[in-house]
Amino acid sequence: MKALVLSGGSGTRLRPFSHSMPKQLIPVANKPVLEHVLANIRDLGVTDVGVIVGDRAADVSRALGDGTRSGVRITYLRQESPLGLAHCVRLAREFLGDDDFVMYLGDNMLPAGIGQVAAEFTEHRPAAHVVVHKVADPSAFGVVELDSAGRVEHLVEKPRNPRSDLALIGVYFFTPAIHEAVAAIAPSSRGELEITDAVQWLVDQGAPVRATQYSGYWKDVGRVEDVLECNRVLLEGVESRVSGEVDDASVIKGPVVIEEGARVVRSLVEGPTIIGPRSVVEDSTVGPYTTLGAGCVVRGTRLDASIALDGAVITGVRRLSGSLVGREARVALGAQGPAEHRLVVGDHCRIEVTG
Ligand code: G1P
Repeated sequence: MKALVLSGGSGTRLRPFSHSMPKQLIPVANKPVLEHVLANIRDLGVTDVGVIVGDRAADVSRALGDGTRSGVRITYLRQESPLGLAHCVRLAREFLGDDDFVMYLGDNMLPAGIGQVAAEFTEHRPAAHVVVHKVADPSAFGVVELDSAGRVEHLVEKPRNPRSDLALIGVYFFTPAIHEAVAAIAPSSRGELEITDAVQWLVDQGAPVRATQYSGYWKDVGRVEDVLECNRVLLEGVESRVSGEVDDASVIKGPVVIEEGARVVRSLVEGPTIIGPRSVVEDSTVGPYTTLGAGCVVRGTRLDASIALDGAVITGVRRLSGSLVGREARVALGAQGPAEHRLVVGDHCRIEVTG
């Protein structure tokens, strides 16, 4: 079996971060989403992975390299414009050959893995095996209707009036039968070749299409809120490890990872929290549910339920919560004191002030 990981798309819902990095590289528990994806694929014993990349090809290949670090072998496949998920399968025709494959959308997080689904696919080997999850707002997803025996009856991409609350998770298992389907369908009203339509084509042809209802935690990390929530969930599983330095005046409470070269000085770090390599925490309270990337500085600040990306500097802030701070960004108490705010804000940023 091979794997096809999709890492194109523009990520407009994850602005401003998606202006400077592909959304699939946003770190969750200090690891890019794509690395979590590759780990789940490798856990199936699948090592031959095609990664579809768009405009941000260079960032993705810099982060993942040839896959060795994740225990897989990556072949990069370039999609010149975002023409849809089924278009990606067309593009990958030669790479996939006549193998079965798992297609995995690179912004989908399933921390409990996909071993169970893979086993079900391998046992029955239907033309397509999709994964579904009950959601509150199905109209934002592909929606699946099952018959009373649990067989897939109907699939629609982002319907205005959904007829079920089962959303398509971004993990699909296919036999080579999918190639005929992606060749047969026409672009949708949004101008894309939808994988949802290709699977519906298989259903219409009478091909066997099965579904697994995924019971574990799942998130499509499309929005900042999703990234923060997913970070919380992954941090729940963190185990304490102190590789950096903690001075005698500091207190570490609960599961906390302090990476190599990091320093904690006169501070309280409350787990679950990860302090990334070479980050400095001074005269601060950090955590719970917080991750600092590499080389961050947090000084004289109380920070919780947040993510700071590499090189972020946060100083003198009384309380910062539920925040996502970008690479090398600076958040500080201004020289003009607490009565006034001064902002240098890039495109599509969001700032909430106290008044
Ligand atoms: C895509 C699929 C959709 C699926 C979703 C899961 O949507 O088209 O069917 O439910 O991924 O993440 P997108 O996130 O590209 O809008």
